[in-house]
Amino acid sequence: MPSLNGRVAIVTGSASGIGQAVVRTLADRGASVVVADINGPGAERVAAGIVADGGAARAWTVDVAQPDQIRAMVDGALSDFGRVDILHNNAMAGSPLDLDVVNLDLGAWDLAMSVNLRGYLLGCRAVLPHMLERGSGVIVNTSSNSGLSGDLTRTAYGVSKAGVNALTMYVATQYGRRGIRCNAVSPGLVMTPAMEAAEALSAQDREIYQLSHLTPRFAYPADIAGYVAFLVSDEAEMINGQILCIDGGMLAHTPSYAQFLVAYGDRGDA
Ligand SMILES: NC(=O)c1ccc[n+]([C@@H]2O[C@H](COP(=O)([O-])OP(=O)(O)OC[C@H]3O[C@@H](n4cnc5c(N)ncnc54)[C@H](O)[C@@H]3O)[C@@H](O)[C@H]2O)c1
Repeated sequence: MPSLNGRVAIVTGSASGIGQAVVRTLADRGASVVVADINGPGAERVAAGIVADGGAARAWTVDVAQPDQIRAMVDGALSDFGRVDILHNNAMAGSPLDLDVVNLDLGAWDLAMSVNLRGYLLGCRAVLPHMLERGSGVIVNTSSNSGLSGDLTRTAYGVSKAGVNALTMYVATQYGRRGIRCNAVSPGLVMTPAMEAAEALSAQDREIYQLSHLTPRFAYPADIAGYVAFLVSDEAEMINGQILCIDGGMLAHTPSYAQFLVAYGDRGDA
């Protein structure tokens, strides 16, 4: 696996789930990491675990929707580690009131836009001047397949992720020639501990997702983390401005695929 020795990475939303797996993987590959999250105690726990395993990490409590807090986070990383090579915008806030277009609560819309989209813009704005000065830097944004296709609910979330996809291309386009790479990872369903909880996903939900999955297992945070570690490495130098689905093929087939599977079974041998 490509080494990240000497690199400094900030990962937002890394007190849990995908972000936690990313920050641990980057640290395992030699990067010094800032575990940034609105959940301060959670970030402290993750950073302490990395340090206990011999890695370099510090926790930072941040609300990514707040420009001053994002700037302070980047300044803190610069003062602790001297540079920032990698930013992974990954934090996400959702609301049970994020419904279909007619019924969604406007507060849920504003929350999604301020954390999931504006927060990513603020992250980019805070690190880019430093990265541009040095002539290099890598940004990864966590998007979602919900930003690439429609759904019956979670409208604000999906629209915020579509915005993340556009932001990714704009950052790559505006700064790529000055040494900046910016890509988005677009997971389908990822079995984080929260997602594994019975109340998050019923047995029926799992079955429905399973039908659309081409890879015959669900993704886990480590699957996303391994990919992010590759994307931020020098081996991915030619990947810029891309939205990369890591979804077991969920978006790779015609929408009727799952219904055909139910109606006719797996016709792989036909
Ligand atoms: N799990 C999935 O199935 C899945 C699928 C597609 C995309 N994603 C995306 O992956 C990313 C991580 O999701 P996850 O499933 O690990 O969720 P998660 O809830 O485990 O992690 C999100 C983290 O963001 C933090 N956070 C929330 N608001 C914040 C704020 N204002 N400032 C800073 N931190 C904040 C939370 O405290 C939490 O630690 C998100 O961007 C999400 O949209 C997840």
